[in-house]
Amino acid sequence: MKREREVLSRVLSASGIMPIACLLIICYTDLLEAVNITSPVLLIHGTIGKSALLSVKYTSTSSDKPVIKWQVKRDKPVTVVQSIGTGIIGNLRPEYRDRIKIFENGSLLIDELQLSDEGTYEVEISITDDTFTGEMNINLTVDVPISKPHVSLASSTVLELSEYFTLNCSHENGTKPTYTWLKDSKPLSNDSRLILSHDQKVLTITRVLMSDDDTYSCLVDNPISHGRSVPIKLTVYRRSSLYIILSTGGIFLLVTLVTVCACWKPSKKNKRKAEKQSSSEYIDQNEEPLKQEGKQLLLIYDSELEDGFLRELPAPT
Ligand SMILES: *[C@@H]1O[C@H](CO)[C@@H](O)[C@H](O)[C@H]1NC(C)=O
Ligand SMILES: *[C@@H]1O[C@H](CO)[C@@H](O)[C@H](O)[C@H]1NC(C)=O
Ligand SMILES: *[C@@H]1O[C@H](CO)[C@@H](O)[C@H](O)[C@H]1NC(C)=O
Ligand SMILES: *[C@@H]1O[C@H](CO)[C@@H](O)[C@H](O)[C@H]1NC(C)=O
Repeated sequence: MKREREVLSRVLSASGIMPIACLLIICYTDLLEAVNITSPVLLIHGTIGKSALLSVKYTSTSSDKPVIKWQVKRDKPVTVVQSIGTGIIGNLRPEYRDRIKIFENGSLLIDELQLSDEGTYEVEISITDDTFTGEMNINLTVDVPISKPHVSLASSTVLELSEYFTLNCSHENGTKPTYTWLKDSKPLSNDSRLILSHDQKVLTITRVLMSDDDTYSCLVDNPISHGRSVPIKLTVYRRSSLYIILSTGGIFLLVTLVTVCACWKPSKKNKRKAEKQSSSEYIDQNEEPLKQEGKQLLLIYDSELEDGFLRELPAPT
C-alpha cells in the first residue's frame, strides 16, 4: 500500500501530470462559471465638482441579478455601495449620499467629485449560480483645473554676466501641477547654466549671456488641464554698454552740478534761520531745492537719451 502510493506520486510528479490536471480543472470551471468583468478604461481622470463613470460590464452564464459591491482602497477597504442589480442595499455612508448610482452593467457613477474620492476602486460582481466572483480594479484621480500661470521675475532687464537670475512660474489654482519652461516656444531642459528647480517651477540662469535675451513662458499641466503663461521678454544688456551709460551719464551729472552750484545761492537769512534749528529740520528746509536739483538732473538725463534704452535704469539719487 505504502509502496503503491510512493510509486504513484513519483510517477505523477515526474511526468508533471498533477499540476496540469489541476490547471485544467480550474480553467474549465472558470470558463463555465465565472463572472467575467471587463472595463474600457482602467484609469479615469475626474474633475472636482464633475462626475465620473467607473465603467464596467460583465458576462455570466446566469441571468440572475448580480450582487455588485464597490469598494475604495484605503488603509482598510471602504465599501462605497452594495447593490442587487441596480437596487442599492442599505444606507450609503454620509459622504456618498446622493452622489452614487449603479448601472445595469455594474458601472458606478460618482457625482460632484471631491478630492477625497481619488483612489483605487474595486468592483466585485457575484451571481448565485456562478462559483467565482468577478473582480476588477479601476483607478480614479480627482483634480482642480490649472488656472492661467504667470512668470514673475525681479526685473525684465538684466546685465550680461549677472549671476543667478531667477524666473518663477506661479498659478493660483490647480492640483498636481507639472511645469515646463519654454524659451522662444522651445522646451528648456536642465543644463549647466540654466538650472530648473526639482519641481521645475523655478528657472535660474546662473550666468546671464547675450543668448539669454529672449521670450520665456511656462506651461503647467495636470491630468485634466493645462495652462500657458503670457510670454515674458527678458532683455540682456551688454556689460560694455553699462560703461558708456555711466560715462555719458557722469558727464551730464558733472555739467549739471556745476551749473546748479554756480547759479543757486541760498539767501543769508534762510541760512541763519536754518542753523538755529535742529539738524532734522535743517534737512527738511533744504529738501525743496535739492529735489529741484534732482528734477533738473533727470530732465537732462531723459532728453539726451531718447532711445528709451537708458530710461530703464534707476533715476540717479
Ligand atoms: C473575459 O473576457 C475577456 C474578453 O472577452 C477574455 O479575453 C477573457 O479570456 C475572459 N476571461 C475569462 C476568465 O473568461
Ligand atoms: C455601462 O452602462 C452605462 C450606462 O448605460 C454606459 O454609459 C457604459 O458605457 C456601460 N459600460 C460598458 C463598459 O459598456
Ligand atoms: C481659484 O479658485 C477660487 C476658489 O475656487 C476661485 O474663487 C478663483 O476665482 C480661482 N482663481 C482663478 C484664477 O481661477
Ligand atoms: C537640475 O539640476 C540641478 C543641479 O544640477 C538639480 O538640483 C535639479 O534637481 C535638476 N532639475 C531637474 C528638473 O532635474
